[in-house]
Amino acid sequence: AGLTIGVDVGGTKVAAGVVDGAGTVLAALRRPTPGHSSVEVANTIADVVAELSAAYDVWAVGIGAAGWIDADRSRVIFAPNLAWRNEPLRDEVRDRVGLPVVVENDANATAWAEYRFGAGRGRRDLVCLTVGTGIGSGIVVGGELFRGAFGIGAETGHMRMVPGGHLCGCGNHGCWEQYASGRALVRLARQLAADDPAAATVMLAASGGDIDALTGPDVTEAARKGDPAALRCLTEVGHWLGEGMASLAAVLDPDRYVIGGGVSDAGELLLGPARDRFAETMPGHGHRPMAEVVIAELGNQAGLVGAADLARI
Ligand code: BGC
Ligand code: NA
Ligand code: ZN
Repeated sequence: AGLTIGVDVGGTKVAAGVVDGAGTVLAALRRPTPGHSSVEVANTIADVVAELSAAYDVWAVGIGAAGWIDADRSRVIFAPNLAWRNEPLRDEVRDRVGLPVVVENDANATAWAEYRFGAGRGRRDLVCLTVGTGIGSGIVVGGELFRGAFGIGAETGHMRMVPGGHLCGCGNHGCWEQYASGRALVRLARQLAADDPAAATVMLAASGGDIDALTGPDVTEAARKGDPAALRCLTEVGHWLGEGMASLAAVLDPDRYVIGGGVSDAGELLLGPARDRFAETMPGHGHRPMAEVVIAELGNQAGLVGAADLARI
C-alpha cells in the first residue's frame, strides 16, 4: 500500500494531505489558491508536497481539480467556474516533485472517497453529488469510477434542466447547477430579499442587512432557526436537486445518492425536499425500487482522500 499525497484544488484553496491505504489522513495542510495558471498552481502544489513528504515517505501524488480532466488524467481541459483552459497540470507538477502524478476531477475524487471509505461504502452503483458553488458529481458503476470516452463524463451539473434558463459558466443556458447549488440558493435568497425585505430580516441579520453580502451559510443558518423565507429557498433548491436525481436514475439506476458540498450542511432541510421531488418525478414511481439519498460522511477532506487513493490505481 504505502502512503500517497492527495491534493484538492479549488478556486480559493489548495488542501493537501498524506493518506494511507485505509483512507486515513495522517497530516494535512492548506494554502490559498495562488492564481489560476497551471504554473502558479503547480508551484503551490510542489511546495505542499515538499512540506508533507519531508516527514512521510510518499510514492505518488493525486490531484483533484475543479475542472474537466482529459482521459490521460493529465490536463485540465476546461473549467466552467475557473479560468483554466487546457492546462498541463500533471506534467507541471511531476516535473517539480519527481513523483508519479495523476489529475482527477474534484467531484470524481470525492465520489471515490465516499465509495471507498464513506457514505457509499459497499454501494457498487452510486452517484455522489457535491452541491457547492456549482454541482460536482462522480458516478461509480459496478465498483468503478465512470469517466466516459474523453475523461469528462459525470458532468451532471451541466445537464440542461431549463431550455433558455439561467446562463451557466460553461456557456450554456439552463444547466442543473444554476438551479440546485449554492449559487442558486443565494440568487433565490437575494431575489426574495429584494422583493420583500420584511420577509427576509432573519436571513439579512447575518449580513448586516446588506442584500449583496448575503451568503449560502446565512440562508442555512436562518433556515435552522425556522425562518420561513430561508426554508423556502432551501426547499426550492432541494426540489431542483431531486428532479435532476430522478432523471439521472432513468439512466444510471444507482442504489444510493450521496450528497455533499457546502449546501449539504443544511442536512434534512435540503435532503427532505430533494427526496420528495425525487420520488414524485421518478419515472415509474410507485412501481420500482427507490434509491436512498444520504449525506456524505467525509466532509471537506473527501476530495483529497479520494485523489490520494486514485493515485494508487
Ligand atoms: C464543473 C465540474 C466540477 C464541479 C465542482 C462544475 O461546474 O463542471 O468539473 O467538478 O463544478 O467543482
Ligand atoms: Na465529475
Ligand atoms: Zn453549464
